[in-house]
Amino acid sequence: MRGRTLARGAAICATWTQLTSAISLDITSQASIKSAASTVAYGMMKYYTGNNTGDNPGNLPSPYYWWEAGATFGTMVEYWYYTNDTSYNPTVTAAILSQVGTDDDFMPTNQTKTEGNDDQGFWGMTAMSAAEMNYPNPSADEPQWLALAQAVFNEMVTRWDDSTCGGGLRWQIFTFNNGYTYKNSIANGCFFNLGARLARYTGNQTYADWAEKTWDWMESVGLMSDTYIVYDGTSDTTNCSTVDHLQFTYNQGIYLFGAAMMYNYTYADWAEKTWDWMESVGLMSDTYIVYDGTSDTTNCSTVDHLQFTYNQGIYLFGAAMMYNYAAAAQCDGGTDGTTCGEHWTDNSTYDGNYGLGQQMSALSVIQAMLIDEAPELVTNTTGGTSVGNANAGSGSTTSSTTGTVITPATGADKAGAGILTALVLSGVLGGIGFMVMGS
Ligand SMILES: *[C@@H]1O[C@H](CO)[C@@H](O)[C@H](O)[C@H]1NC(C)=O
Ligand SMILES: *[C@@H]1O[C@H](CO)[C@@H](O)[C@H](O)[C@H]1NC(C)=O
Ligand SMILES: *[C@@H]1O[C@H](CO)[C@@H](O)[C@H](O)[C@H]1NC(C)=O
Ligand SMILES: *[C@@H]1O[C@H](CO)[C@@H](O)[C@H](O)[C@H]1NC(C)=O
Ligand SMILES: *[C@@H]1O[C@H](CO)[C@@H](O)[C@H](O)[C@H]1NC(C)=O
Ligand SMILES: *[C@@H]1O[C@H](CO)[C@@H](O)[C@H](O)[C@H]1NC(C)=O
Ligand SMILES: *[C@@H]1O[C@H](CO)[C@@H](O)[C@H](O)[C@H]1NC(C)=O
Ligand SMILES: *[C@@H]1O[C@H](CO)[C@@H](O)[C@H](O)[C@H]1NC(C)=O
Ligand SMILES: *[C@@H]1O[C@H](CO)[C@@H](O)[C@H](O)[C@H]1NC(C)=O
Repeated sequence: MRGRTLARGAAICATWTQLTSAISLDITSQASIKSAASTVAYGMMKYYTGNNTGDNPGNLPSPYYWWEAGATFGTMVEYWYYTNDTSYNPTVTAAILSQVGTDDDFMPTNQTKTEGNDDQGFWGMTAMSAAEMNYPNPSADEPQWLALAQAVFNEMVTRWDDSTCGGGLRWQIFTFNNGYTYKNSIANGCFFNLGARLARYTGNQTYADWAEKTWDWMESVGLMSDTYIVYDGTSDTTNCSTVDHLQFTYNQGIYLFGAAMMYNYTYADWAEKTWDWMESVGLMSDTYIVYDGTSDTTNCSTVDHLQFTYNQGIYLFGAAMMYNYAAAAQCDGGTDGTTCGEHWTDNSTYDGNYGLGQQMSALSVIQAMLIDEAPELVTNTTGGTSVGNANAGSGSTTSSTTGTVITPATGADKAGAGILTALVLSGVLGGIGFMVMGS
């Protein structure tokens, strides 16, 4: 896969020294990287209490949202893949399976009132990673990783909306949720990413066709610039004629990873695209610094925002080598002396800003340093063992107009559940989107 080559290319641009922070990291030593990853993974999993008797399996305690749980377990699937440490696998597998819902599509009834395409997409990508990494399959009577990813993809196909903007997915699934008029990059990014990866995994061209179509649509409305900068979203109230130019690394990363997968599948111009992209966003430089959205000007520290940083690791894994110094240097805080902070660009020591997302981001980049030793991501012709179902996805809760069995969330539901329900998008037309947490 091209991404691997890029990661290697990136590595030689940089020079490294052993860190003297509480997490000692010698990036030339596999044992040292594994040990650092193990420490940070432990710190992250401390946030998950759902496997304790009486707690809520597959969910994270407040203030962490449902989609972040999907991301957490996806990071742990990767943790296993990079390190071969199986100790969390039973917990992680049980957690993922607990959230598939009655239709095996990651639309559990606790979430559907507020669930957006991106929420479902994050869990779908976790399942896709499990298939690609040959993470141990659930027992045959349980839903299987590939089929779960296909279910999410198939339901997104039914939500493709040609009624405005020449196409695209809406952010929200249901009309009654705030953000239904927003057609945004993360919802379409989940669809693009899954399409590219399913095409590569199964060899089924239909998935690639949808990925291409989504990419083309992103370009057509200006959400993807000609230098591959991904902007946050646009509104169908203006037929997508104006764009919110806010940038988040997770939007960038989700398309970059998908593009690399498209390259691997089609061998076409996606190679050049991916390479130019890495250059255009500065990933080929040894001084790459991530500024995510508004964080470095406003110290925006909502839980969601911190979580977005996670994508620097999982999807911008080609750049992992660029972050590891800063990431590990941030992991010498807290009462345990190994808690990770947020401001990696400060290049300094723990900044006091801790949480699940911070652990996840640091873990993603530290473990990705093992990419050269990791097995190739599999497909169904190169050792993949996950059982798929091309027709997965019930459709029963997929249509925004026919999903009448779902009633709007109450105020209390919203406060507890939605990352996304409470997003206020009034800034879209003026070109400045902003987020306000639910209350
Ligand atoms: C696609 O990925 C596979 C597995 O990672 C790798 O062996 C192959 O060389 C890649 N092909 C291209 C064209 O990148
Ligand atoms: C829950 O998971 C954590 C981390 O994986 C582990 O340390 C703990 O022992 C588990 N608890 C139970 C009851 O399985
Ligand atoms: C749904 O919510 C209830 C109440 O909080 C909880 O007991 C149950 O475990 C949740 N189900 C899932 C699948 O998360
Ligand atoms: C909305 O945009 C699409 C795509 O650009 C275009 O085909 C369509 O004609 C536009 N609709 C209106 C009402 O302007
Ligand atoms: C891989 O998946 C495709 C699409 O579902 C299917 O046609 C093909 O038979 C599968 N190949 C193997 C080896 O299972
Ligand atoms: C390819 O994917 C499409 C869309 O999901 C599906 O309808 C078709 O059956 C798949 N083909 C095979 C051979 O699996
Ligand atoms: C952000 O936080 C840093 C310390 O972490 C502080 O030095 C800086 O002034 C803050 N910036 C703003 C805009 O509040
Ligand atoms: C980070 O540290 C390196 C090496 O000590 C230094 O060259 C660089 O200027 C520092 N960057 C920042 C943002 O402080
Ligand atoms: C993990 O195991 C795989 C194969 O089982 C091996 O290729 C890989 O190098 C191992 N990784 C580490 C970090 O030990």
